[in-house]
Amino acid sequence: MSIRYVKESGQLILETAGTAYHMKIDGHGYLQHLYYGAGTGHEDLSYMYRTYDRGFSGNPYELRDDRTYSLDSMPQEYTSFGVGDFRVNSIAASCSDGSRCAEFRYMSHEISEGKYSIPGLPSVYDNGDTAETLTVNLMDNAANIMVRLHYAVFEELDIITRAAEIVNAGPGTVWLRKASSACLELPFGRWDMIHFHGRHCMERQPERVPLFHGIHTLSSGRGMSGHQHNPFVILCDRDATEDSGTCYGMMLVYSGSHRTEIELDQFDCVRAVMGLNDDRFRWELGPGESFHTPEVILSCAEGLTQLSHRFHRVIRNNIVRGRFRYGHRPVLVNNWEATYFDFTEEKLLVIARRAAEIGTELFVLDDGWFRNRNDDNAGLGDWAPDENKLPGGLESLIEKIKSMGLDFGLWIEPEMVSEDSDLYRAHPDWALTAPGRAPMMARNQLVLDMSRREVIEYLYETISGLLERYDISYIKWDFNRPISDIYSHSLPSARQGEVPHRYYLGLYELYERLVTAFPDVLFEGCAGGGGRFDAGMLFYSPQIWCSDNTDPVSRLMIQYGTSFGYPPSCMGAHVSASPNHQTGRSTPLSTRATVAMAGSFGYELDLTKLTGSECEEIKEQIRLHRKIEPLVHEGLLYRLSSADESSRFVIWENVSPDRSEALLSIVVTDPKANGAPVHIKLKGLDPAGVYSVGGEIECTGMALMQSGYTFERLTGDYPSRQILIRRTDMKEKDDKQ
Ligand code: DGJ
Repeated sequence: MSIRYVKESGQLILETAGTAYHMKIDGHGYLQHLYYGAGTGHEDLSYMYRTYDRGFSGNPYELRDDRTYSLDSMPQEYTSFGVGDFRVNSIAASCSDGSRCAEFRYMSHEISEGKYSIPGLPSVYDNGDTAETLTVNLMDNAANIMVRLHYAVFEELDIITRAAEIVNAGPGTVWLRKASSACLELPFGRWDMIHFHGRHCMERQPERVPLFHGIHTLSSGRGMSGHQHNPFVILCDRDATEDSGTCYGMMLVYSGSHRTEIELDQFDCVRAVMGLNDDRFRWELGPGESFHTPEVILSCAEGLTQLSHRFHRVIRNNIVRGRFRYGHRPVLVNNWEATYFDFTEEKLLVIARRAAEIGTELFVLDDGWFRNRNDDNAGLGDWAPDENKLPGGLESLIEKIKSMGLDFGLWIEPEMVSEDSDLYRAHPDWALTAPGRAPMMARNQLVLDMSRREVIEYLYETISGLLERYDISYIKWDFNRPISDIYSHSLPSARQGEVPHRYYLGLYELYERLVTAFPDVLFEGCAGGGGRFDAGMLFYSPQIWCSDNTDPVSRLMIQYGTSFGYPPSCMGAHVSASPNHQTGRSTPLSTRATVAMAGSFGYELDLTKLTGSECEEIKEQIRLHRKIEPLVHEGLLYRLSSADESSRFVIWENVSPDRSEALLSIVVTDPKANGAPVHIKLKGLDPAGVYSVGGEIECTGMALMQSGYTFERLTGDYPSRQILIRRTDMKEKDDKQ
């Protein structure tokens, strides 16, 4: 059993293979947090529960004589609000009598086999891992609000998930104003925060800062998880490294506006509260109704590498679904950076022919294939092929592409509508716009109201119509603007605060129906590159276009930052043209491939402009990719160096799950004249194994991990190397056994 209730001490204990999480129902019915961290082997951690007399921190009425008991200073599992815990709270609501307080006390708990479910929302699923669930019911009898805290324990994965369900147990209406998913308390220690900020074309840049007293807020109010602040944060020991130090990760399984507040309080305790962004949130809960929050994935590990490995594993095995979860992903060619909007069927076919010759498997037709779409000012919403560009329609194009031996993929941006479209002319009220106000425009498009049933039905009919009619094996699902003017013309004014979240309930429902009806289609998420790169989207699309920036040098940092929370198989990465279209930088073809092979691999350039020798080089790249894909996608990733701007090189290593193979990759970003050779200690190999390094050297895993490996001198513009490391003693060993 990974969940236990110890009646004598009032403890609820969650245990994974390497971690333990203790909470305590104290004598007054408050659910206190005791400990989360590496397993201690000790059951009774009640001694961690201490109260102190704290000035200016009040006491619950019944404990008014005990000045040591204050909600303002005690670590809690999910906070009350308005009753004297003045730190960031987990929840806020207005009750029907206008009061805005609630104090939650333990009522009951249940322990069950399997994973709790969250209606309508993506979440970690039990993939035969025998998850267990603890639900703790907390109640405030004056406000008549019940909070059901769900915890699922994935013992072998070292993962705990959390979500909350808020129930209006009274006869009046309750308006929820904040409903976070989880509250994590770190009562002791000195912590750094690593968060992943960015912008369009430069997503998920890691930034590490020591927590200072006050509240750190990481949030998106853009109606999307956003390019700017990813819903993933790490809290780690001040001196934590890739290999040592306690590291906690919190990841929200959600794609809309989110907020994480991390408070270092007056007593040097840390409280981290993660969940929906409450800025525009107001949810009406009628009597007996419930609200389900999105889920938070928690892990605690020794060192950043182990933490990443745990998140990679849970995302790969328990978030990503369907037949593309494991195994080969098609090597694709996308026409966007080759043609942008300017293409004809003929031009596409020439590229496709070359794509087939060099060994790619899937041709993806990006934006611009539908009526009135010659630039980004019109056409979204009317998903019928442009007969000027594609005289035989999609049928004829697909037939020709298939006859070359390639599969066909299509770009869509279903959540959007152009003002200049038949859809908008017919249903202007289907767009999110505030009454009497000209909406903010972005890329000249508006966002459809995904909280409306008619919109979901229209989109389901349209997309399933395309997938039924045409032989399409891949969909790139784009989303190219933030959501502003968020107002639904189908909801009354009092319920407008529900629209941001109802939008995602609608989107997830649509996606769920499509992935269920078309299990053989590979969906790739996209939002102006990686603007919606989150675990919520990965529940539907096994890979997400990591960034619109395809410059391999920029990508080093983007993919490095992304890798802290998300596995390589989820990161769409393409070889594009040089000079690069976003940065103007020139890089060798080999370096572009080295970096793209660290993710879900493809090409995005005009292949017809390549020389014969470049085509040969690409054939070789694809052959290599096929060989290393299993170890990159299913193995362990080690970040052997940082990728920040001051580094002269970036090195990473992918090791296969059985440690029989590894791929060592380096890109030199700043070669030094007569400089010191680059030397690195490898990781993750079997110390006793004998490995051949690039066919050049043969030595033990221990030697490679202790004395390390020295690269040959790499000079020129952004040179790179990929070195295959293979175990050579396996066969011998097998023979001996
Ligand atoms: C933004 C995407 O990230 C690009 O790859 C491309 O699909 C364009 N949109 C098309 O409009």
